[in-house]
Amino acid sequence: MSEKNCIQIINKLVTCHDATRDELVFLLEHREQIDDNLLRFFFTSAQKTASLYYGNKIYLRGLIEISSFCKNDCYYCGLRRSNKSALRYRLSEEEILDCVTQGSKIGLHTFVLQGGEDNYWNVEHLVPIINKIKKITPTSAVTLSLGEMSSGSYRLLFEAGADRYLLRHEAISEELYAKLHPTEMKLQTRLEALNNLKKIGFQVGSGFMTGRPFETAENVADDLIFLKNFAPHMVGLGPFIPQADTPFSDKICGTSDNTIFLLAIIRLLLPNVLLPATTALATIDESGYEKAILAGANVIMPNLTPQGARCAYRIYDGKANACDTASQIGEIKEKLAKIGYAISLDRGDAKRIGDITND
Ligand code: 5AD
Repeated sequence: MSEKNCIQIINKLVTCHDATRDELVFLLEHREQIDDNLLRFFFTSAQKTASLYYGNKIYLRGLIEISSFCKNDCYYCGLRRSNKSALRYRLSEEEILDCVTQGSKIGLHTFVLQGGEDNYWNVEHLVPIINKIKKITPTSAVTLSLGEMSSGSYRLLFEAGADRYLLRHEAISEELYAKLHPTEMKLQTRLEALNNLKKIGFQVGSGFMTGRPFETAENVADDLIFLKNFAPHMVGLGPFIPQADTPFSDKICGTSDNTIFLLAIIRLLLPNVLLPATTALATIDESGYEKAILAGANVIMPNLTPQGARCAYRIYDGKANACDTASQIGEIKEKLAKIGYAISLDRGDAKRIGDITND
């Protein structure tokens, strides 16, 4: 009976790129009972959907973790302000530009400046850096992932040349959001920020962690429906991984199987979305990148952060302390070749129907 329903729901996702909340809840609740053949069909369909838009190419984004200071206190994150054992650093402008120069020499065409919500990295300090990155590499996209700011600030960053902004919504249920964040953090503020980013013209990324403490299947279904309706250009989905110095240190880690399942659902709900195989997934599963791509992911984000700073950027524990950029890209190329994929060094904007090519 449940098997039959899962077949119907998966078929609907594959053919109509849609599902109701009840159908998603049902599918999520029966994930572990789905037989191997159906699961294979589901993942292959998601992968084929991605390749309709992106062929066998995986976009690369150079990630630069610019600051480990954070004024927020999210219960799950190792950068939370109450974590007194966290090592704090802030890259200098010179260090950031150096990462960009190195990355563009290798051919990267997207640079993601990510960090905690650090008061230092306000518009005044970010605008000159965005200008300088655009001078070094005018054809590259600049992505920011620096948390909530006023609409006015976002506008100035966009006008300075920033192209994309990543801000996960984290949880669309007020109740779950409140279990993951202190009361001073409001879901409403997060959603307003996302709407502002879109209105201003950014390509926007949102998303959530899989296997969050306290989540229910209904919560996850609501997050999926929110993403379907908000239709961001990018969706970040990675497993929750406990960090020892946070209130969630004893909570259960998200799983690779569940993350891959959710990636496939997202790919089918939002066929042309940019969908990273996240570092968090690769942290808990050494075949994480390959499995994610075979379930519809199409982006990987090598880490360009200088070695010295990397271990201090401890959002979660066990994060692979990746090697230098060139070797990381070499390893990614090898992994991809084994599954019939190759990297693309394009800027990697989201494709629309009219852009579909056969190359
Ligand atoms: N495990 C996995 N992902 C985490 N993030 C924060 N803390 C953790 C954790 N412990 C994610 C959040 C945030 C993104 C930058 O990292 O979803 O939006």
